[in-house]
Amino acid sequence: MVNENYTQKDGRRLFEEDKLRALADPEFRAIYEAESSKKRTMASIGKGTQMELINLSNYETLAQNHIEPAAWDFIQGGSDDEVTLRANHSAFEHIWLRPRMLVKGSTSNLSTTVLGTPVSMPILLAPAANHGLAHPEGECATAQGAALAHTLMTVSTFSTRSLEDIAASANAPLWFQLYLYRNLEVSAWVVQRAGAAGYRAIVLTADLPRLGNREKDIRNNFSLLSHLDLANFPGAEAEENHYYIPFTPTWETLDWLKTVTSLPILLKGILTAEDALLALERGVSGIIVSNHGGRQLDSDIASIDALPEIVEAVAGRCEVYLDGGIRRGTDVLKALALGARAVMVGRPIFWGLAVNGAEGVHHMLEILRAELELAMILSGHYSLDTIDRSLVKYI
Ligand SMILES: Cc1cc2nc3c(=O)[nH]c(=O)nc-3n(C[C@H](O)[C@H](O)[C@H](O)COP(=O)(O)O)c2cc1C
Repeated sequence: MVNENYTQKDGRRLFEEDKLRALADPEFRAIYEAESSKKRTMASIGKGTQMELINLSNYETLAQNHIEPAAWDFIQGGSDDEVTLRANHSAFEHIWLRPRMLVKGSTSNLSTTVLGTPVSMPILLAPAANHGLAHPEGECATAQGAALAHTLMTVSTFSTRSLEDIAASANAPLWFQLYLYRNLEVSAWVVQRAGAAGYRAIVLTADLPRLGNREKDIRNNFSLLSHLDLANFPGAEAEENHYYIPFTPTWETLDWLKTVTSLPILLKGILTAEDALLALERGVSGIIVSNHGGRQLDSDIASIDALPEIVEAVAGRCEVYLDGGIRRGTDVLKALALGARAVMVGRPIFWGLAVNGAEGVHHMLEILRAELELAMILSGHYSLDTIDRSLVKYI
């Protein structure tokens, strides 16, 4: 009951007493401190730049000033008319959230495991070639950003730092993404090096039998090779036929891969239930639903739209991940609701790197974490375990 005789001074005293009582409560204190530190990080990162960096789109805008135009087009672009690239974003806008109210809870726990490896949130870094385009420390800086966020990075075969240097530069858990060299013995050697350096899984990319038709790169006469220091292949000459006509993987390649590594294998670039079932038959531990960020077959389905049929086909027999167009915490939440164990981001890595190196990658991830946490709380989910299909509706 409100006592109408209270003066403003009494009110302030009551408020102060209440605040002290609340701060003595460890649970409340944890929320209070997390909220204030989030704001501090944002303020200090934004300092000295011309804009406050509060979302991934801000990072994208600012990053463009730091990356050479042809490299920017290479990073941002898609294939043909970029229909799939756009669809990766617009598809999320047709999925609506069905929030539940008055749910009991206080803090939400985002930590989970990916193939048994603990991570602090279901947001990972997708494999992407050539981080050196965005930052001189390349993938080493990215790994440090991932470590600061306590999450996992997937290192591309085409990294600009060697897979060993990346592993040594930070203690983030790592997966190694494999493009096959035309000489399979060289590929076996790289995979075994990844195992020796402590990588925890091999991600075989299935959707690049040839490079997609990236017209921006053609117009800019941009060749990845002339910008790439092939750090994983010391002494290799970056001849076109080594890489642009790579050894094309087939289903049998998975059998071969199992003979050269005992690490778990994930297959990346799967978009149909049929292929998901074939992958299961070949004993994969995980499937990454992906259209390569709209860079390969234009007009292939947006990855978030492909996710439900794959989750249904797999029926819990392996872990399912998703990448493509994740830019907001609500995007992550929708993917989790549709059955993804975790999501990956690709282009935002380059934006974080270009703006502020390892700290930029870290902050980019923290923004996504904070957005996911808030979206979970606002939709009545204080744990990843309660998120399911009932949270989404297609309109
Ligand atoms: C510049 C760039 C380089 C990429 N290089 C690779 C690669 O080496 N291996 C791979 O499997 N995928 C690669 N990808 C695809 C990403 O792993 C991922 O599927 C895609 O970027 C996700 O979409 P997003 O950028 O919208 O987050 C690359 C993507 C970009 C943008």
